[in-house]
Amino acid sequence: SRHTGTTTCSGRVELLHGGTWRTLCDYLWDLPAANDLCQQLDCGVALQIPDGQFFGKGNGSVWNGTFSCKKNAKHLRDCSVSVLGRDECPAGKDARVVCSGARLVNGTTCSGRVEIRHGDTWGSLCRSQWNLKAANVLCHQLNCGYAKSIQTGEDFVGMDGPIWRDAFHCDGTESCLWDCAQVILGNPSCSARETATVICSGLAESLRLSGGESRCDGRVEILLHGIWSRVLDDDWDIKDAHVVCRQLECGTAQKAYYLPRSKRGIGVVGFRSVQCAGNETQLMLCKTSRSHTVPSGVAEDMGFLPAGSRQIRLVNATKRCAGRVELYHDGTWGTICDDNWDLSDANVVCKQLGCGHAIKAFDSAHYGEGSGQIWLDDVNCTGAESDLWACPARALGQHNCQHKEDAGVLCSEFLALRLVNGNDCTGRLEVFYNGTWGSICSNQMSQLTAVTVCKHLNCGDGGEIARDFEYGRGSGPTWLDHIECTEQQSSLWQCQSDPWNAQSCDNRAEETHISCTDREKLRLIGGEYGCSGRVEIWHQGSWGTVCDDSWDLADANVLCRQLGCGSALSALSEAAFGEGTGPIWLEKVHCKGTELSLWDCPAKPLFGKNCDHKEDAAVECSDPPRRPATGSTRLSTPIILCIILGTLLCLVLAILARQIQRARAQQKGESLRTCMKCLLDMAGECLTGWGWVTEMNGICCHTKSFTYHWAVLILSQHLSVTFCVPNRPC
Ligand SMILES: *[C@@H]1O[C@H](CO)[C@@H](O)[C@H](O)[C@H]1NC(C)=O
Ligand SMILES: *[C@@H]1O[C@H](CO)[C@@H](O)[C@H](O)[C@H]1NC(C)=O
Ligand SMILES: *[C@@H]1O[C@H](CO)[C@@H](O)[C@H](O)[C@H]1NC(C)=O
Repeated sequence: SRHTGTTTCSGRVELLHGGTWRTLCDYLWDLPAANDLCQQLDCGVALQIPDGQFFGKGNGSVWNGTFSCKKNAKHLRDCSVSVLGRDECPAGKDARVVCSGARLVNGTTCSGRVEIRHGDTWGSLCRSQWNLKAANVLCHQLNCGYAKSIQTGEDFVGMDGPIWRDAFHCDGTESCLWDCAQVILGNPSCSARETATVICSGLAESLRLSGGESRCDGRVEILLHGIWSRVLDDDWDIKDAHVVCRQLECGTAQKAYYLPRSKRGIGVVGFRSVQCAGNETQLMLCKTSRSHTVPSGVAEDMGFLPAGSRQIRLVNATKRCAGRVELYHDGTWGTICDDNWDLSDANVVCKQLGCGHAIKAFDSAHYGEGSGQIWLDDVNCTGAESDLWACPARALGQHNCQHKEDAGVLCSEFLALRLVNGNDCTGRLEVFYNGTWGSICSNQMSQLTAVTVCKHLNCGDGGEIARDFEYGRGSGPTWLDHIECTEQQSSLWQCQSDPWNAQSCDNRAEETHISCTDREKLRLIGGEYGCSGRVEIWHQGSWGTVCDDSWDLADANVLCRQLGCGSALSALSEAAFGEGTGPIWLEKVHCKGTELSLWDCPAKPLFGKNCDHKEDAAVECSDPPRRPATGSTRLSTPIILCIILGTLLCLVLAILARQIQRARAQQKGESLRTCMKCLLDMAGECLTGWGWVTEMNGICCHTKSFTYHWAVLILSQHLSVTFCVPNRPC
């Protein structure tokens, strides 16, 4: 078997059966089976069986196969595969798994040296990048409770294999390390003696019994995503109780009992319908119905520590390592007053969060005012503490402050990226690190890195290293060199490079200039084929228009060429294609007419209010588009016809779908898939003359004269209909 997905340790499960790879149906697919598979693939343990089209659709067939393992089988690969009747699996019901891709070695199940997997290789992590928040996420991910300590000396050393330079910045609510922000760029390498380790609280501490007479008696509660959750007693029996007792190291179970209503727990439900064989090592491995009722707000508040514990976070800056300091205590987040707040206090915060050292301690709500509690005042750390809670301060909650005095920090590991001297999407590349903007050198930089920069800056999917150095020279440090990105990375932070160094290159001619080619950032609205219409520009996250002051044929020419629409026939003003909405981004555009892109023309960003949408600029270009315009498809007669047909079909199918569901409830033998096929045939028959509907639940469609975009109408969980919208003549 194999699985396909975003990382090598998660995806849709496929089995090699009769010479072809087929997707496994999720019938009888459960966490224990998934766990076996993860171990067989050397991917740690199974974390999750995600729902929906999480890993896309398979292109092979889906079939109702399952594993049947003999008693002595150690691995799934030793088990035979049985086929469960001829019915095909309904769409979206294929088996999926997310394996941990992480493990602890040289210790016990729940303590040891941290190893993660990149591609096919297991490697350790550097201790200098490792922090308690990430360790907590990892412990949770491995079903090992929470992290007790990451200070374990050299207890778990002794290794071969690589040491990865990944740093994980978690906010504590992630269900696995891969969901945390991952930074590799600029991180130093380290030796085998400096590898990351953790001691997790262990299995016993992710389960507890409350309201009983001892630690080994009471109502079962399980720690899921950082929240103590209820386990409902439907189907509860002695075998389930055995597993609980084993996990809690309480011997064997004496009885499994049902509580009177008055003694039942309240709050979030974790598991229901638990069915254990009795020999499982933990409750997680039994068959259960997971309840999906975990409210996200609660998860956000609690992180992964047991209730009552204290946590810290930074709020309101861009992502990590800078922001307003907030502490979690007694079930609520609160702020810190800036009286006496200084660099040594800030230092403790930065270190604690794995963010290096403090660059600046901010007062007066620099990162915005918090709300609710102000937990600390007159904090007076020496700077050597490993935890802010260890610093002298007034008693919790005692202060003489308001939220306008909320304290903040900027740490050395706070990163930012920008292009300067051009515009948002072209210019000289600069990175913010250690409190200063500096340059990035271009030695051995590939075009892929330029593309990654553009993606990172939300400047589209194309980019080039500009070799003419027209964006000037920098004067600050030259922070980085030898950056190498791969196809997978959408953030520059995940690329490899030399370690941070203020003199990475001594020659300013090595500085990187990048220009992103960003065709998606321009569009024409209200005309035909996307090649005429009101000019709209994507900027700062929204579409806006251009003011017609001084809008002329030279400007229009540049624009038409940039959009692949030939040359301009006319430059129109006064909202000739209707008034836009949203911001008006530019005025007084002055192209010479020879520029390759509108961004190269001098223009003024519109700050004043001397233009309104009555003056929106528009163009008419000479050519039809080279490719379909997105978002602004002109509705031609065939499309309208198609949509009407689609809607009609949708109605018919909705009615049929309801009938099928009824029929299904009545006669179990009827396969949904057969019905869908039948529906498709019917739909095809009705519409053959038109040729619009060509496939159900898939991607259509080519005919001799049109290529079609597709649209999917979901009618019920298992039933969808595809109808086609032609968007360009071939
Ligand atoms: C538990 O027992 C069943 C049979 O009763 C066996 O198939 C399975 O492998 C056992 N599991 C473990 C973890 O020992
Ligand atoms: C902070 O602590 C030091 C001792 O570590 C002490 O000398 C100093 O007076 C304290 N400052 C305040 C404002 O309490
Ligand atoms: C970062 O700045 C500190 C001073 O704030 C300095 O000691 C340190 O060497 C700098 N780090 C790098 C990599 O330049």
